[in-house]
Amino acid sequence: MNLSALRLSYTKNELNEEKVSKFPFEQFKIWFDEILNSEIIEPNAMVLSTSSEDGSPSSRVVLLKEFDDEGFIFFTNYESEKGKCIEKNSKVSLLFFWKELERQIRINGVAKKTDRNISEKYFNSRPILSRIAAAASPQSNIINDRSQLEKMFEEYKSKNSDKIETPLNWGGYKIIPHYFEFWQGRENRLHDRIVYKKENNDWKIFRLAP
Ligand SMILES: Cc1cc2nc3c(=O)[nH]c(=O)nc-3n(C[C@H](O)[C@H](O)[C@H](O)COP(=O)(O)O)c2cc1C
Repeated sequence: MNLSALRLSYTKNELNEEKVSKFPFEQFKIWFDEILNSEIIEPNAMVLSTSSEDGSPSSRVVLLKEFDDEGFIFFTNYESEKGKCIEKNSKVSLLFFWKELERQIRINGVAKKTDRNISEKYFNSRPILSRIAAAASPQSNIINDRSQLEKMFEEYKSKNSDKIETPLNWGGYKIIPHYFEFWQGRENRLHDRIVYKKENNDWKIFRLAP
């Protein structure tokens, strides 16, 4: 396999500081709407990076479930590895990569737990078996084998058949950004990189070299 010969030319689009929105959330929405109208599967999958107390980074995919002019919400187990990292260091980064449109968005911000009512509303909207799985699985803990997981699932299901409450250790985080970078692939590797940085409550816009 010759990986060094794998190369694509990016020619689909461009990004121009004169034409982008003055507000990064609006620019995000413009791109996200375009993505939703494309054939991309799970366009709301994003990489969340956290760091532990000693500064070691870790990344994983989570699903964006809501966003507004303040931030980006995903749901998880608060006692998972990522939950523990955020507890110690709420600075996180998000990354979207939509290869079909040759686009990447990097977002840096601070994670805050969402209000309980937001977590409950989303939890209750999930299919019942997903709710049971979220409640029964001690996310990020070591377990013996697959059968232990299935047993926990079945036990939880038989004990809580009438109503699955939102577990106290489960809920949303909202990432409140202070930095966005919109990356559009261009020909000859002269890519467009437009950054929004929050300074004194205003968004400063500049371009980075690719
Ligand atoms: C497409 C995709 C979507 C995922 N969505 C979520 C999610 O929304 N919430 C979540 O907790 N884990 C989600 N996961 C699983 C995480 O990547 C990860 O395995 C899990 O959250 C445990 O991570 P941690 O041990 O670093 O806390 C998803 C994984 C994939 C591949």
